[in-house]
Amino acid sequence: MTNHPAALGGSPAVTIDQAHYTQWPIYTEEEAQVAADLIRSHSLSSAIDGPGPITEFESLVAETWGARHTIAHSSGTTALRTALFGVGVVPGDEVVTQSAVHPFNCLPIIGCGAVPIFADIDPLTLTLDPDDVESKITSRTKAIMVVHWKGIPANMDALMDIARRHGLMVVEDNAVSQGTTHRGRMLGTIGDASAISFQDGKLTSAGEGGVFMTTSDEVFQRAATLGHYERLKELPNPKWRAVSGFSFGEKYRMATITAAIGAVQMKHWRKRLDVRHDNAAKLGRAIAEIDGFTFPDFPDYFSSPYFSGHIEFHPDKLGGITRERLIEALNAEGAQVTSPARKDSRIPHTDGLWRMLHKHPVFAGNEYGTEDILWEVLGQNATKIDYRSVVLPVTEDPEVPYDTIMLPSFTRPADDLIDQYATAFDKVAAHAGRLAEAHA
Ligand SMILES: Cc1ncc(COP(=O)(O)O)c(C=O)c1O
Repeated sequence: MTNHPAALGGSPAVTIDQAHYTQWPIYTEEEAQVAADLIRSHSLSSAIDGPGPITEFESLVAETWGARHTIAHSSGTTALRTALFGVGVVPGDEVVTQSAVHPFNCLPIIGCGAVPIFADIDPLTLTLDPDDVESKITSRTKAIMVVHWKGIPANMDALMDIARRHGLMVVEDNAVSQGTTHRGRMLGTIGDASAISFQDGKLTSAGEGGVFMTTSDEVFQRAATLGHYERLKELPNPKWRAVSGFSFGEKYRMATITAAIGAVQMKHWRKRLDVRHDNAAKLGRAIAEIDGFTFPDFPDYFSSPYFSGHIEFHPDKLGGITRERLIEALNAEGAQVTSPARKDSRIPHTDGLWRMLHKHPVFAGNEYGTEDILWEVLGQNATKIDYRSVVLPVTEDPEVPYDTIMLPSFTRPADDLIDQYATAFDKVAAHAGRLAEAHA
């Protein structure tokens, strides 16, 4: 169907109310019941000795991921802090990570008293560029903090190879890529330690929460001594067991009510991720059949519940249309597509989150004299870095990722809606030249 595009006065192609299909998180009576039961039991706190919601939640996550050890945390960020502590990051160490992201990967590095070193990203996957990571390694580097960005994994083969050659540890920030596999292995089980987030916006949620995981007995034991004083007496290594009754950090444990909700969510985990994946695959395929649109040429080493979420467009086949105009035209059709580009990355978000960390006043300074604020906080152990001289060409390129748009993720079976999206793309492609001109 190629009738008049909505941006030029026609009727929108997408007429179905999308709220139901994009609703997230999905909480039902089951979660309400377990939460109410805990409230009625007058027991919302746990010293985690023996079975209970926290151990049940941890076991479900461990089983799903195939992880040897899991520890539930109050957030993904605290779980990342535990991961860094567990792999041995200490004050003054350097940790290489990416700048192009929310700040959360960076906060636990500073929490450890370590210095974040920013490496560039790959323009397609938006994850760490292994060559640039290697060029940033110094005698002070202890670890690489990899961020798997919205279902697209970093190149773990190359990064693990670099880490092993340089004797470094690898922490995977898997907060936003639950369920993605890399050469058949679950993200979060490839590096030395990792964390996932269960905050409401993530692929499974429990309100707030995170899970630290590792396959290493040694990393696990060291990690447990950061804020998990009540669970140390069973540790096999007497060195770490001796810390029992004490701890090297504040309390990080998850609340029982969160764990109970998380455990219900984990029971629906596979099914809900499969729905997202099937929808994304169907939508992506329908659009990629239209002349002018293709799947980005992603590496073939992963499978993701988002099915990447990115669609590439080819202006030469679409009347020279720009990304902005294409998005406007599709939005006018009712298709909720967005730009994955970092155009606005130099502007603080209204909620105060930045997307290009090395330009943030904490690193780059500002007119209020913040250039030394980080060193004031990190103290004597840290070797000062001149972040103003850091240049990350891909991270700083406002067009990256080039010529792609981002599709929404549908959380319930959505075949009719997907058909309407395909029609929207069809209409816009058929009239792309006029749409581009109308804007020029
Ligand atoms: C990439 C990334 N890492 C870590 C986190 C932290 O998770 P949490 O909000 O549970 O602390 C987030 C949260 O959005 C994130 O996007």
